[in-house]
Amino acid sequence: MTSRDFNELLACPRCDNRIIFDKGQFQCRGCKTEFPVLDGVPFLVSDPGTTLYEWRERYHALIRRLEQDIERIELSLKQGDLPELTCKRLESSKKANAAYIDELTAVLNPLDVTSLPANLETYLALRTRLPSDQGITTYYANLHRDWCWGDQENFDSLRLVLEGLDEHVPEHMLVLGAGGARLAYDLHHKFPSALTVATDFNPLLMLAAARLMRGETLHLHEFPIAPRSVDDVAPERELRAPEAAGENFRLVLANALRAPFKPGVFDTLITPWLVDILPETLSIQARRYNHLLVDGGYWVWFGSHAFRGANPEDNISLDETREIIERNGFSAPTVIEAEIPYMVSPASRHGRVEQVVVICAQKNKKLKPPSRHVALPDWLVKPDQPVPITEAFKMEAMSTRIYAFTLSMIDGKRSINDMAELMEQQRLMPKQDAVSSIRGFLIRKYEEGESYSTF
Ligand SMILES: C[S@@+](CC[C@H](N)C(=O)[O-])C[C@H]1O[C@@H](n2cnc3c(N)ncnc32)[C@H](O)[C@@H]1O
Repeated sequence: MTSRDFNELLACPRCDNRIIFDKGQFQCRGCKTEFPVLDGVPFLVSDPGTTLYEWRERYHALIRRLEQDIERIELSLKQGDLPELTCKRLESSKKANAAYIDELTAVLNPLDVTSLPANLETYLALRTRLPSDQGITTYYANLHRDWCWGDQENFDSLRLVLEGLDEHVPEHMLVLGAGGARLAYDLHHKFPSALTVATDFNPLLMLAAARLMRGETLHLHEFPIAPRSVDDVAPERELRAPEAAGENFRLVLANALRAPFKPGVFDTLITPWLVDILPETLSIQARRYNHLLVDGGYWVWFGSHAFRGANPEDNISLDETREIIERNGFSAPTVIEAEIPYMVSPASRHGRVEQVVVICAQKNKKLKPPSRHVALPDWLVKPDQPVPITEAFKMEAMSTRIYAFTLSMIDGKRSINDMAELMEQQRLMPKQDAVSSIRGFLIRKYEEGESYSTF
């Protein structure tokens, strides 16, 4: 498999035109968007400049938070009179946090973390906003699980996915939401002559994977949820792949909701631990996956089946899943249910046994793909559209008025009773209710103030 073969799979995530590779950069033939290559990983998102900007912002926020953690540890240590082991734990956390800042910075360096921000309006206009619950380190532990805790979990995952694939031998395989990329790497070793493309939108995971795939060793601290002992608070780990990945293995930084590939180019699509965390319904996802696959191509969904969205109709059970997949251009899926260990760090008392599914379905009908994924409504994107009066805005407006009034009454002399009387005079609420409401509000503010002062 050559680079040309890989490049020929690509399509612009912004306008669907062909992407060409020229002078070390990928560029769309249609909209002319240029896509950078970060440490060998093409960054194929619909607005690379502004998405880079957002990840850089998240990097800065993360580093600031880690610095604050270090300051808080120093304050605790200064208190003195702490038990010896507590001091030891705090000292090692402090050292590990400082090293972690350097480690993260080194891996994320290709993001050019010191460069200037891009234009936020362009970003909004393209409506490709990163979800706020997806931080740089949200799945950091996965890197340790993939590349240093031992092979049990990785072995179980590979075994189950192979069971799902049955006799099928992939030639062009796409792994969406590949995380630290271990499963994709193991599949690549199993099928070395296939082209395996592993994608994720998280730059920490993809850039770490890029180095591991070249055979490098990464030194990264782990922060177990429930350390077994003081020595397990933040062990320094060595992460490495059994061997460098071959030419046929490619990493791509991309959003699964706008996968940068031509239609019908993959015969195998793997979505490990992804389907139930994406913000789109299963029907829409199934149609997107249908579009990426060749006729007769296989989709393997591996991992959890746990839908907990805001819309009751979308929180589907496994039986509904079968029906939805069949209605969206796939054969009746085969379903394997199994129990495997999940995120069991040797340094932690926290670890789970998880019920997982392997759902494998073959594309049997070509369907029209859903329209492009849109992250924000028009009134947020276009500044000339009226902002709707939503229930949430109404509630927020009312409580903000009351809170602002309460704060304005604080003059160092008035008591809660005095304020409640004023509240009644303003016809905001009866005095008795106002007393409890003002007290509740002031308790919250007082507690927030207490926690600020410890920084
Ligand atoms: C639960 S983790 C699973 C990671 C990996 N598949 C594994 O099994 O370890 C979900 C992964 O999906 C990625 N992800 C979430 N939303 C995504 C999106 N819209 N596009 C691409 N990747 C996404 C996250 O960055 C994360 O790596």
